Amino acid sequence: MENRAQWGTRVGFLLAAMGSAIGLGNIWRFPATAYDSGGGAFIVPYLFALLTAGIPLLIMEYTIGHKYRGSAPKSFGRIKKGFEWLGWWQVAISFVISTYYAVIIAWAIMYAFYSFNLTWGDDPTAFFVGDFLELADAGAIGGLVPKVLLPLLAVWVITLGFLARGVKKGIEVANKIFIPLLVVLFLIIVVRAVTLEGAADGLSAFFTPEWNRIADPNVWVAAYGQIFFSLSIAFAIMVTYSSYLPKKSDITNNAFITGFANSSFEILAGIGVFAAVGFMAFQYDTSVGQLAAERGVGGIGLAFMVFPEIVSQIPGIPGLFGFLFFASLVLAGLSSLISITETYVAAVSEKFNVSRIKAVLLGGGLAGVISLLYATRGGLSILDTVDHFINTFGVALSGLVEIVALAWLARSIKGLKEHANQTSDIMLGNWWVVCLQVITPIVLGYMMVQNLILELS
Ligand code: PHE
Ligand code: NA
Repeated sequence: MENRAQWGTRVGFLLAAMGSAIGLGNIWRFPATAYDSGGGAFIVPYLFALLTAGIPLLIMEYTIGHKYRGSAPKSFGRIKKGFEWLGWWQVAISFVISTYYAVIIAWAIMYAFYSFNLTWGDDPTAFFVGDFLELADAGAIGGLVPKVLLPLLAVWVITLGFLARGVKKGIEVANKIFIPLLVVLFLIIVVRAVTLEGAADGLSAFFTPEWNRIADPNVWVAAYGQIFFSLSIAFAIMVTYSSYLPKKSDITNNAFITGFANSSFEILAGIGVFAAVGFMAFQYDTSVGQLAAERGVGGIGLAFMVFPEIVSQIPGIPGLFGFLFFASLVLAGLSSLISITETYVAAVSEKFNVSRIKAVLLGGGLAGVISLLYATRGGLSILDTVDHFINTFGVALSGLVEIVALAWLARSIKGLKEHANQTSDIMLGNWWVVCLQVITPIVLGYMMVQNLILELS
């Protein structure tokens, strides 16, 4: 315990935590979710979810890592014997996410290069499923797609390379490079996007509030789902990262900073994406609503089908805009992938008492091999299915079980509160306990049932 690796600086930890939080979820999940869930009115459930669930749980996870100083299985096991499995369950989810996250980053690397020559041609959708993924007919499963292999190898070499170098020299250094660079690149994109013709229509479609939607429980479920996924909560990540915090660390403050930084980036992404979509609508002489309904404005479709189309039409230097967009996806993705992979690297090396390097080679190697599954013809539909289940069940279930097990069954909440309060000048009061023990589990429980009903209907 005494020799546990530590972050070099507070900023280093914060950048790593933000690096984990800021990911594909910010760029292609938030804008679409907010747009579909009331536009500007979404801010109400969203902020409510951030303040009653996101930040309180982040504080809880930071406190657990800081107090028990172990990977998720180890820390949970230290809270209560027998709860180690909860850590392994979360680590397992992270493992699964890492296998397909890596492939999406690999695609983005290829598309960053394609941007320069607008390789996707006149019909980016046909190019993506046809030439790029080699999907003769959708859903067909076949051999490996060679185009994806080299970038996929690069993704794993970079990720595992940084992880092998350890917490301070590896993870911290990576995030100190990636995150500032990401912010700069993304700001350039947003500035360019909002100065395009039609941008104002996109922004007004995004921000115009539909207040009546606040009465829809599904909108609240969407807000909580977004916050959980976006803050990397209940995936073993934040517990692991905070286990490397030095004794003197302001936990509660750190959680607020991480939460607000992530949300700021989300809103920024919403502005960038919808300004660009407004531009596209202008080009096609249609409305943003029509375009969004026909094409969708989130996920893989947004990044690899809609965006290339937008890029091709941008006046000036279209290749540069495309490159910046896909490079942002790569940076945001890599910093998240590093954090997801670290969950099992840390857990395995602690459990089996092997060196970090061995755990990296073992865990990362296995994940790398499994990720080849999504680099096959038909890999896209496997990816969609796995991602769908993670989003509908993984996130809510994992959060719910974590709260019930730790905040209720293990009776650890009082001790955690005292521990956090010793570190910070922001004092946690009863509001924190009520958020964790009452509000969040009710919403997550409702979310589970709701998703189950949707799934079965
Ligand atoms: N939080 C990251 C995002 O918003 C993604 C992520 C999810 C990272 C789950 C790790 C685990 O994209
Ligand atoms: Na995020």
